[in-house]
Amino acid sequence: MLTSFLYMFFLSMACMSTAAASLSLKIGFYNQSCPSAEEIVKNVVDKAIIRNPGLGAGLIRMHFHDCFVRGCDASVLVDSTPGSRTEKEHLINNPSLRGYEVIDEAKAEVEAQCPQTVSRADILAFAARDSACLLGGIKYAVQSGRRDGLYPSNISNPRDLPMDPKFSRMLILLVLDNSYYQNVVNRRVLFTSDQMLMASPETATMVKIFRREGELWAKNFAKAMVHMGSIKVLTGFHGEIRKSFGAVNRN
Ligand SMILES: *[C@@H]1O[C@H](CO)[C@@H](O)[C@H](O)[C@H]1NC(C)=O
Ligand SMILES: *[C@@H]1O[C@H](CO)[C@@H](O)[C@H](O)[C@H]1NC(C)=O
Repeated sequence: MLTSFLYMFFLSMACMSTAAASLSLKIGFYNQSCPSAEEIVKNVVDKAIIRNPGLGAGLIRMHFHDCFVRGCDASVLVDSTPGSRTEKEHLINNPSLRGYEVIDEAKAEVEAQCPQTVSRADILAFAARDSACLLGGIKYAVQSGRRDGLYPSNISNPRDLPMDPKFSRMLILLVLDNSYYQNVVNRRVLFTSDQMLMASPETATMVKIFRREGELWAKNFAKAMVHMGSIKVLTGFHGEIRKSFGAVNRN
């Protein structure tokens, strides 16, 4: 069910117009304050994925997860403090969320260049983009200017529903190429729930188009990522630029 829901979400995001996803996020937000930020993240991510290609899907999934739970504010990256169990340590999420150490390394290198300037939420968004590029050749400009949330989210919050573990496998398929849609059409799918995609005429049409048009699919994937990256973001004076690893500054 959740897998289908995410697909529907993905497809409906993909159908939205290209109009700016957020008024406050900007492409090149760090042009002046930290011009090398995106390049530093890309180098770290590329190195990590070449060592372990599975990390690419993990990083994309982490960004999805972060955005869906509380808005893209890096709350997914916060460690538990005594008495609070956060997303990062959730038993169900933890084995399937991969790539924390990549984000930590990127953050450390960015901090060395530009202390307290670039948010972890943005680093995660850059890393997801770089992963999509390296794994699927999908290129898009990431808007930035997100700030990090002040609170870890905890699992007692109903919005903190863990993602279906199938989701990460699906993402691997999503990221690699559009052959996934070919499989849906051919009914050779891994998850029966995905057949629901073919049950609705609109999504069935989309699936057929994506199957034929790899380039169109890539474009829509990019568009969906940009839209998703603007969900309930903190900007301006809201939130903070988190400095330490896995902890909010004020707690
Ligand atoms: C940063 O530079 C890029 C490339 O020159 C440009 O497209 C973008 O609009 C700039 N962003 C800001 C916020 O200045
Ligand atoms: C986490 O849970 C505690 C107690 O269950 C609650 O007081 C707190 O507001 C929750 N925090 C968040 C961010 O949901």
